[in-house]
Order: sequence, then structure tokens, then C-alpha cells
Amino acid sequence: MIESVLLVGGSGFIGSHVARRLAARGLRVTVATRRRERAKHLILLPTVDVVEIDLDDDAALARLCAGQDALVNLVGVLRGGNGEPYGPGFAGAHVALPDRLARAAWAAGIPQLAHLSALKAAADAPSGYLRSKAAGENAVRKAFPNATIFRPSVVFGDGDSFLTMFSRLLKYLPIMPLASPDARFQPVWVGNVADAIVEALLRPEADGKTFELCGPRQYTLRELVKLTARVTGRRRAVLGLSPLFSWLQAYLLEVVGGPMTRDNLRSMSVPNVCAEGRTLPFNLAAAALEDVAPRYLRNR
Ligand SMILES: NC(=O)c1ccc[n+]([C@@H]2O[C@H](COP(=O)([O-])OP(=O)(O)OC[C@H]3O[C@@H](n4cnc5c(N)ncnc54)[C@H](OP(=O)(O)O)[C@@H]3O)[C@@H](O)[C@H]2O)c1
Repeated sequence: MIESVLLVGGSGFIGSHVARRLAARGLRVTVATRRRERAKHLILLPTVDVVEIDLDDDAALARLCAGQDALVNLVGVLRGGNGEPYGPGFAGAHVALPDRLARAAWAAGIPQLAHLSALKAAADAPSGYLRSKAAGENAVRKAFPNATIFRPSVVFGDGDSFLTMFSRLLKYLPIMPLASPDARFQPVWVGNVADAIVEALLRPEADGKTFELCGPRQYTLRELVKLTARVTGRRRAVLGLSPLFSWLQAYLLEVVGGPMTRDNLRSMSVPNVCAEGRTLPFNLAAAALEDVAPRYLRNR
């Protein structure tokens, strides 16, 4: 039975939900963050401690790992720069850091490690994001063979940046120009992702396994935007862009620091869906987007 969990990247969207679930079970949670301010919404939870740390400092990392029963790595970036096989930001956050965390956890004798990867991560994937996620999985497996790895499709829920971003854009744009409108996703609710992580920490049979995480239904990107428009009452025409204009939009947004890059576009060329009939492990019931989205999108 575990009593203490170290969440690295725990201040973010998925990490915050994991922290709340662990705290609700009375487990001691340490949220490691680069800036304490980022995790201030978690400080009031009764068993949660927020610790600011320089993750490049091996001695500090070793001190943080000491006495923990589990480490969950939730660090991830969507903008990692360009390069082969992946840009420097992806190399640091998705490969070098997971490698160091897995080694530090192993050296400290932490019995459990859970690592967040991404659906369709592969060495020959079309984007640096997905290639770096595959390299990160390999590094984690090598340093910590019984780690549990999760590969979610796009995650939705309170605090997401995906549907919430569409909701905000729909508020201001009279027409929604949409890159890669036919890209396919099988969105999974953040509550299901957090439950899967917590369950894996509690179940020995999860050790060494890799789990894909998906919701109950597949959608095209166009369907997801239309659903967001319906839920928020912001009905707009959606203008699906051709591959050339999708690339141009991604390029321009990449240059101005907007919500998309050419690498994101390349990720979307692979259907982000699970194998037929597979959604969640541990008999968890996959929540439907249509049931959850109205509850958090309405006022966004
Ligand atoms: N959300 C999705 O739809 C989705 C889908 C598939 C996979 N995933 C994966 O799931 C994990 C969690 O995703 P999320 O949506 O919760 O992400 P998030 O909200 O962006 O949170 C990630 C956290 O990682 C930390 N971080 C970011 N860059 C870092 C860096 N260079 N070095 C160290 N720490 C860094 C940040 O914590 P501090 O700033 O506090 O240090 C941040 O809060 C990630 O690995 C992501 O790739 C997410």
C-alpha cells in the first residue's frame, strides 16, 4: 500500500486532477514545480505539499525522491521547437527529463513509477512531439522496467486547453477557420485519466504495462468544434482549411506564438484513436464528452 506520491508536472491540467484524487484518499502528495505560483491552487488541499525545485539539480531531485512510495511524471510540452528527430524543447522535457526522473526514482528505491506519454507515440511518427514521446517511453522503461506508461488521446475536462481554446475562439470569430478539419480523435475525460493513474499506483498488476486511454467515441476535429459551438451557444460557420492553408495557418501561429505549430499539424496526420473496443483499463467507465463538456464549457 502506498502512502506518499511525488507528482512532477503536477501543477498542470492532468496533474491537478490527480493531486485532488490522491488527496481525497488521504495520501501524502508532493507537487514538484519549477514555480510555486503555478501550483497555488493545490496548496489548500489538506495532504498536498508544493515544493519548488530546479529539476536539473540532481542532488535536489534525490532529496525529493527520498521516502516517496511513487513518482508520477506529468511533464509535457506542445511546443518543443524544430529539429531531427525532435526539437530541443521536446528532447529536454520528453526524453532527458523522464530519463533523469526514472533513474532518480530507481536510485531512491521508489517502488512505483507512472509516466504520461501520448497516444501514437512512435519512433517513426510524423511529428517531433510523438517521436520524442516514444524516446521518453524507451528511456523510462530502460531505467525503471516496471514503470506504468499511459498513452492518452486528447484529454478534455475542467481546465483543458483544447475545447476551452475552441470555446474562446468561437466567442470572438464570426467564422472559424479550422486546420486539418478531418483529423480524428477519441477524447478522454481528465477524471478517467486521473482515476487510471491512481488505480495503477494501487494495483500491482499494472506494473510494467502500457495503457492507451480513450473516451467512448471518435470525432473529427470539425465535429469537436461544432459540439463546442453547440454547448456554448456560439453557433458559427466552420471553414475547413485545405492542407496548404492548414500549413500556412500553423506556420503563422507558430511564428506569433499562437495555439498551433507545424509540428502539432503533423501530429494530427495520424488518427489519434485507440484500437477498436479499447478505451480504459481497470474496468473504468469512459465518460461521454456530450455529458461532461456542458458542465465546464458553458461559461468559458
Ligand atoms: N492534455 C492532453 O490532452 C494530453 C494528451 C496526451 C498526453 N498528454 C501528456 O500528459 C502529461 C500532462 O499533460 P497536461 O495537459 O496536464 O500538461 P500541462 O497542463 O501543460 O502540465 C504539464 C506540467 O509540466 C511542467 N513542465 C512543462 N514544461 C516543463 C519543462 N520543460 N521542464 C519541467 N517541467 C515542465 C509544468 O509544471 P511547472 O510549470 O509547475 O513546473 C506543467 O504544469 C504530459 O506529459 C502531456 O504530454 C496530455
